[in-house]
Amino acid sequence: MSDARDRPWTVLELLRWTTDWFGERGLEGARLDAECLLAHALGCERLRLYLEFDKPVSAEERARFRELVRRRGEERVPVAQLTGRKEFWSLDLAVTPDVLVPRPETECLVEAVLEALPEPEAEYRVLELGTGSGAIALALASERPKALVTATDVSAAALAVARGNGERLGLGDRVRWLEGDLFEPVAGERFDAVVSNPPYVAEADAAGLAPELAHEPRGALFAGADGLAVLTRIASEAAVHLQPQGVLALELAPEQAPALGARVAAAGLVEAGVRRDLAGRARVLVARRAAGPGTES
Ligand SMILES: C[S@@+](CC[C@H](N)C(=O)[O-])C[C@H]1O[C@@H](n2cnc3c(N)ncnc32)[C@H](O)[C@@H]1O
Repeated sequence: MSDARDRPWTVLELLRWTTDWFGERGLEGARLDAECLLAHALGCERLRLYLEFDKPVSAEERARFRELVRRRGEERVPVAQLTGRKEFWSLDLAVTPDVLVPRPETECLVEAVLEALPEPEAEYRVLELGTGSGAIALALASERPKALVTATDVSAAALAVARGNGERLGLGDRVRWLEGDLFEPVAGERFDAVVSNPPYVAEADAAGLAPELAHEPRGALFAGADGLAVLTRIASEAAVHLQPQGVLALELAPEQAPALGARVAAAGLVEAGVRRDLAGRARVLVARRAAGPGTES
């Protein structure tokens, strides 16, 4: 992308050059990344680029694009943080360095909760722990218009992003955003479903992780030596916040499923199944609170 040319670069030339450069640096999805960043620099939709392959790009636009490309290729900043946007469950969400970039596999968690709460018009009470950008809470609020959704996070900065997303999407009055440690802001309350994608990366794995993760909040990723610290706390405390027959749905790393299943059972919940992501890996554990005698604590 050097300036030593006597004619301007076109959209297609910039895409080809950048895709090759990203590819040489080992970035997966090099072409898609190049398209997202160029569309952002030009202030247009990504698909618009396909109609404008031959259009020359101005020096000012190219300077904006060059900086985005450098940060993606050299600093390995995730594309969503460079554009400030990420789509989740067809919702256009704002993201900042204060929140985890919502992952496609987390849609599996939303599907599990919707399956457990099947009535579209029911007034379900739903709790999400660790909401980050608000992705899960807002997806559930959009699919169950009469549900009262409560979302918590320890990070005030993350909650500000989530609240902003709720307002922009017209779902702001459907979600109660509360700051605090796990269930602490909802003491004494019970829900039809408790859902969470908590931090679950093992500290022991930190050295081998993709460099992109260094740009996301540590508190959104890591949870003790084996990654189970927060999941275990949620499993142990969930029963007193669930209605009889209420559902607990947790995202986890595939290798954590057996250990967490044992924790859930020890906490008096009945495991209702493990859901797999598109790659066929165990991704979500679903459990229910039993409805019988002795479960009314
Ligand atoms: C993996 S991120 C998930 C964000 C979002 N729910 C998503 O799926 O994209 C975990 C979130 O949990 C929050 N968190 C971590 N520990 C927490 C705790 N003890 N209580 C409440 N929230 C916590 C983090 O601040 C972060 O926003």
